[in-house]
Amino acid sequence: MTTRMKIGATSLLFVLCLSAVSLLLNLCCLSLLKPCEVPVKPRRSFLDNGVGLTPPMGWNSWNRFQCNVDEELIKATADALVSTGLAKLGYKYVNIDDCWGERRRDPQGNLVANATSFPSGMAALGDYIHGLGLKFGIYSSAGTGTCCETMPGSLGHEQQDANTFASWGVDYLKYDNCVDPYTSPIIRYKTMSEALNNTGRPIFYNICVKNDMQPAIWGANIGNSWRTTEDIHDNWDRMLYIADMNEFYADYAQPGGWNDPDMLEVGNGGMTYSEYLVHFSIWAISKAPLILGCDLRKLSNETLNIVGNIEVIAVNQDHLGIQAKKVRNFGRHEVWAGPLSGNRVVVLFVNRKRKSMTIPALWVDIGILDNVPHRARDLWQHEDLQTTFQGNMTMTLSGRSCKMFVLTPLS
Ligand SMILES: *[C@@H]1O[C@H](CO)[C@@H](O)[C@H](O)[C@H]1NC(C)=O
Ligand SMILES: *[C@@H]1O[C@H](CO)[C@@H](O)[C@H](O)[C@H]1NC(C)=O
Ligand SMILES: *[C@@H]1O[C@H](CO)[C@@H](O)[C@H](O)[C@H]1NC(C)=O
Ligand SMILES: *[C@@H]1O[C@H](CO)[C@@H](O)[C@H](O)[C@H]1NC(C)=O
Repeated sequence: MTTRMKIGATSLLFVLCLSAVSLLLNLCCLSLLKPCEVPVKPRRSFLDNGVGLTPPMGWNSWNRFQCNVDEELIKATADALVSTGLAKLGYKYVNIDDCWGERRRDPQGNLVANATSFPSGMAALGDYIHGLGLKFGIYSSAGTGTCCETMPGSLGHEQQDANTFASWGVDYLKYDNCVDPYTSPIIRYKTMSEALNNTGRPIFYNICVKNDMQPAIWGANIGNSWRTTEDIHDNWDRMLYIADMNEFYADYAQPGGWNDPDMLEVGNGGMTYSEYLVHFSIWAISKAPLILGCDLRKLSNETLNIVGNIEVIAVNQDHLGIQAKKVRNFGRHEVWAGPLSGNRVVVLFVNRKRKSMTIPALWVDIGILDNVPHRARDLWQHEDLQTTFQGNMTMTLSGRSCKMFVLTPLS
């Protein structure tokens, strides 16, 4: 055997060894949710418009006001985002939903703001919102009309409308799918995506196609978020139904493109304080857009306590951008968990029943090593627990409630 052959054989052995080690490491990453730091690499191509690297936060008029929108409401809401401190916490988008326009386009074919309800025009409104350090969002539809059928949709006018929105300083477009010709939404949504790109203005693009068209599967290189569910309603059963549908698509969420289980109902009155805590907690760990839907001009302290929880918001905005999943279901008591940056995990206990219940979160379910002790921070109580936990963490929950923790390894 020549020396050269020996070296060859040795390096071959070395390479084989390395592959075995990396295979083992990969297996360990695959089999458990997160024993190793999750590699930060794009999981699939996504829209490269530079926005939505964390889930968007803001407000939209629909859930509380439907078609009753005007410029005084929008300006007062923008003011309230600032005065309540919510803007500082990240709630930046002020988004007008349906019914903002005149029934017909102008003679040049442009969309026009309703002259009665938005007399100053959208460019002036955009300026007002930007003047507060906030961002401006608007709504259209990939059909010939919007869902309320009070104004034209953008089908066939995509570039013209995108140009109009850009000229108004729009930063976010919610693009609905009404009065549509029943052709593939993929093509119609891609046309608007390209039109927005052509304007040169980075505009967050929300694909509002209901789940039956599975936008999670085709949305990533077209939009920054896509609906995974039917519309939310302001009640407990519907909220959980939506949360479960959205969870199914968890693997599709990533920085730059998010699953959208519809906008928040917190503060609209249809659920109890404890039920709204569950609603907000699930949306936060699911890396859902945190788009408020209540009347911010009359924000109660209770609602502010929920949507203004800086620690829960930090989980939603964690730069890894990995959506938490339901990791254990004990009938109607559940444990949800997901990785966070810095080798931490977020764990959410949910009791869907009316009576109280004690349930464990097992390390093996959460995806952390059984022999590693962790300390726990309670994000709703804002306190570090005195005991450390190893193997499991067992909690008693009152009816229809949740508890949310960030676990950090002790070594
Ligand atoms: C338009 O698309 C190109 C190619 O993906 C991208 O590099 C650019 O940032 C986009 N611009 C805007 C404004 O979205
Ligand atoms: C324009 O706004 C006025 C006042 O709110 C309203 O009565 C009217 O229906 C709106 N027009 C359209 C087309 O929505
Ligand atoms: C909210 O809390 C503040 C101080 O914590 C208090 O001054 C204020 O009256 C409360 N507002 C309402 C509507 O309860
Ligand atoms: C949880 O951990 C404690 C302490 O390590 C142990 O006594 C208990 O049996 C565990 N419970 C479950 C359900 O694994």
